[in-house]
Amino acid sequence: MNARFTLAALVVSTSLAGCAGMTHRAGPMAMATLEATKGNTTVGMVMFHQRGEQILVHARIEGLKPGQEHGFHIHEKGDCSSGDGMSSGGHFNPAGKPHGAQDADHHAGDLPALKADAQGRADAKFQLMGVTIGSGAADIVGRGLIVHAMPDDYRTQPTGNSGARIACAVIVRHQP
Ligand code: CU
Ligand code: ZN
Repeated sequence: MNARFTLAALVVSTSLAGCAGMTHRAGPMAMATLEATKGNTTVGMVMFHQRGEQILVHARIEGLKPGQEHGFHIHEKGDCSSGDGMSSGGHFNPAGKPHGAQDADHHAGDLPALKADAQGRADAKFQLMGVTIGSGAADIVGRGLIVHAMPDDYRTQPTGNSGARIACAVIVRHQP
C-alpha cells in the first residue's frame, strides 16, 4: 500500500466515520493533512471543531514509532516548504506563555502528545482551550501542525525537546 493510497483511506475514514458525530454540529471547522517530512513516513488527518470556547480535536495519524509518544504542536507558520518542518517556525504562542503541559501554563499551540499503538498508529481526541478557528489573535487557520520524532517533556523551553519534525501540515479552514 503506497503512502498516497493510505492517506486517501485516512481521509475517507475520517470524514465518514471518525468525525461523523462532530461534523454535523454547528461551529467553525478546520483541518490539516499531515505529510511526512524528508526521510520520514508519518502521515495523518486532523480535524478541529470549535464549539463555544473549546476546540475539539480529532487526530488520526500513522507511521509513528510503535508504542512511543510523539510531541505534537501547532506551530506559528503554515509553511512546510523547507522539507524538514523547520519553515513552520516555533510553537504558536499568541499569549506569550512558556512551553508546558495542558494543566500548566503553556503555549496555545501545545497539544497533548500522540501515543502510538503497536502498529504505529494514533487515534486521539482531545479538547483545547485558548485558540479559535477563523477569528482573533489565537486563530489557528493558516498555522502549521507538526509531529515530532520524540516525546514532549513539557519542560524544556521553548520546544519540549521533542526532536526532529517528522510530519508537517498547514491548518486550513474547512467548510463541511
Ligand atoms: Cu512542535
Ligand atoms: Zn510549546
